[in-house]
Amino acid sequence: MKNKLLTPLPVGDYILKNRVVMAPLTRMRADVDLVPTDLNVEYYRQRSSAGLIITEASQISRLGQGYPMTPGIHSEKQVAGWKKITDTVHKEGSRIFLQLWHVGRISHSSFHPEEGLPVAPSAIRPKGNTLTSEWKQVPFETPRALETSEIKSTIQDYKQAAVNAKTAGFDGVELHSANGYLLNQFLHGKTNHRKDEYGDSVENRARLTLEVIDQLAEIWGAGKVGIRLSPFTFSGDINDPEAIPVYEYLLKELDSRQLAYLHFVRARSAEIEDQKVFEKEKELWNRYSGTIIAADGFTSETALEYLENNRADAIAFGRNFISNPDLPQRIESGAELNPYDRTTFYGGGEKGYTDYPFLQKQNA
Ligand SMILES: Cc1cc2nc3c(=O)[nH]c(=O)nc-3n(C[C@H](O)[C@H](O)[C@H](O)COP(=O)(O)O)c2cc1C
Repeated sequence: MKNKLLTPLPVGDYILKNRVVMAPLTRMRADVDLVPTDLNVEYYRQRSSAGLIITEASQISRLGQGYPMTPGIHSEKQVAGWKKITDTVHKEGSRIFLQLWHVGRISHSSFHPEEGLPVAPSAIRPKGNTLTSEWKQVPFETPRALETSEIKSTIQDYKQAAVNAKTAGFDGVELHSANGYLLNQFLHGKTNHRKDEYGDSVENRARLTLEVIDQLAEIWGAGKVGIRLSPFTFSGDINDPEAIPVYEYLLKELDSRQLAYLHFVRARSAEIEDQKVFEKEKELWNRYSGTIIAADGFTSETALEYLENNRADAIAFGRNFISNPDLPQRIESGAELNPYDRTTFYGGGEKGYTDYPFLQKQNA
């Protein structure tokens, strides 16, 4: 019997050729104008055996950027750069969604000197260090709290980015509401102390994510819009066990919108001491009746087990897709996986990017 990971899956308006999804992976290799390059085209071309490619996160505005050399989707040049990628991936027979990103407080003013300090729901500084536009490690700045009117214009930025993604030839968009970035900062009480319509109550904390989703669905149709969530994430100094009711409400609302998929980053066992969290997690995702893509720490074997236990419909692979451009073929043949090299994850050129070996030499 065929490995379930390699069987087709209807996702929103599409039928994916398999359930092996390429997770969104920031690689910091765009050019100085934050435009995708020909090297980026080759990287995505190599990974077109995925049923669905979710791109590295792409900032919707200058203020949305938080790391050096991450590609944007807010200028004409950036749209043209992405178009080369979508054309190539389509020629190779895969589907590609753009992950829309605003980092909020996980930024530094060096990325947007004209706009000044990073913005966030509230003026609360994340613990730890960040990178400047010159790749220098510095402590985070205390962000500026967005005015209510600025939240409205941020929604417009998402909307424009969704229009741009259409022009760039994507098959759909994934809203990044996970991993400690802007929308996640609104969901969690640790980072959101607002008293206006975007804070305080459960409904208010979920409001921005839902308003953005509705804008994206208006541009694309719900069947071409996905969303990524990570209720139990620790990244970005965001961890907030009290946020569960916000996710319960959000999932109910998302469920009624019939999106292409819900992409969830599962709780990391190495980070969680309280085993009840895993039960809570299961309960949470069971509330969602639509298509689910699960991510984090999957091997070929645990991915299959997860699908067979009906915990998810597809699995997103991150680090293993970095080092195994032909991951679906390796799953099919049971071949060993190439190990990944963390030192080349972020920044640089071909090394650790487009030079991981395929099982067989590719036809040029
Ligand atoms: C180099 C690197 C870059 C990442 N960039 C993103 C990103 O742009 N957007 C996102 O939602 N997650 C990002 N992630 C998280 C991955 O999508 C994925 O959830 C994580 O790697 C765990 O899956 P894995 O165990 O299969 O690697 C990144 C992870 C890595 C290792």
